[in-house]
Amino acid sequence: MNSILEIKNATKKFGGLIANDNITFSVQEGEIVGLVGPNGAGKTTLFNSVSGAHSLTSGQVVFNGEDITKKKPYEICKLGVGRTFQIPQSLNEMSVFENVLVAALNRHGSISVAKEHTQKVIAMCGLASFIYMHAGNLNVMQKKRLEIARALATEPKLLLLDETMAGLSGVERKEAINLIQRIKISGITILMIEHVMEVVMNVSDRVVVLTSGRLLAEGTPEEVTQNQQVINAYLGGMTN
Ligand SMILES: Nc1ncnc2c1ncn2[C@@H]1O[C@H](COP(=O)(O)OP(=O)(O)OP(=O)(O)O)[C@@H](O)[C@H]1O
Ligand SMILES: [Mg+2]
Repeated sequence: MNSILEIKNATKKFGGLIANDNITFSVQEGEIVGLVGPNGAGKTTLFNSVSGAHSLTSGQVVFNGEDITKKKPYEICKLGVGRTFQIPQSLNEMSVFENVLVAALNRHGSISVAKEHTQKVIAMCGLASFIYMHAGNLNVMQKKRLEIARALATEPKLLLLDETMAGLSGVERKEAINLIQRIKISGITILMIEHVMEVVMNVSDRVVVLTSGRLLAEGTPEEVTQNQQVINAYLGGMTN
C-alpha cells in the first residue's frame, strides 16, 4: 500500500504552548485511521496543519508524494484533501443544496455537472429531504452530515473527519458509521478524530493516540486498547 499522507516531525506552537510536539505517522491509501486522545491533545490542531488552516512551526506534511506543508487551504483542497470542522461551518442563510454546490464548484467548472454531483452527494449523505432547507434550520445530526457532504463534494482522495459523531444518538451513530463505511468503499481514505470509542474501534483499521501534543501510541484498535499507557492517559477516564 502507498502512503497517501505522511506527517513528519510536525510541531505547532501557539506562543509558549506546544499543541503538536514532533508528531510522525502516516496514513495508507484506502485505510480508515482513528485519531484519538483527551481534550486538548492537539487533534484538531493537526487537522488545521494538514488542511493549511495554519502552518506548522516545524516539520512536514506530504500528501500523495507532494510536500503540502506551506500550501494554502484551497490548494490543498484542490489536490484532494477534504475536511469537516468540529464546529460546523455551514452557510446558514443558504440552502443545503447551495452549501454543497459551493463546495462542488470548487472541483467542477461546469455548473450543470456541479449540480448533478451535488444531488448525488446530498442523497449519499441522507440529506435529500432537507435539500431546500436553510442550513441554519438543520439539527445537530443534519449539520454534521452537511459538513461531510460539503467535504465530499470537493471529491477528496483523503477525508479528514473532526468529531462527526459527537452529540448523536445510538441510532444516528449507526447510520453515521454506515455512511463512513460507504465513503471508504467509494475509494476515499479517511483520517477520523473521534471520542466515541465504539465507533473508533468498529471502523478503524488503525488508531493513532495523541496526548499533550505528543504521539503516545499507534496500532490496531486491539493493540491500542490493550496498551497500558493509553489506558492510563485516555481510556481509563472514558465512559463509553
Ligand atoms: N489558534 C489557537 N491559538 C492558541 N491556542 C490554540 C489554538 N488552537 C488550539 N489551541 C490550543 O492547543 C491545544 C490543542 O487544541 P486542539 O483543539 O488541537 O485539541 P483537540 O485534541 O482537538 O481537543 P478536543 O478533543 O477538545 O477537540 C489546546 O490547549 C488549545 O487550547
Ligand atoms: Mg478538536
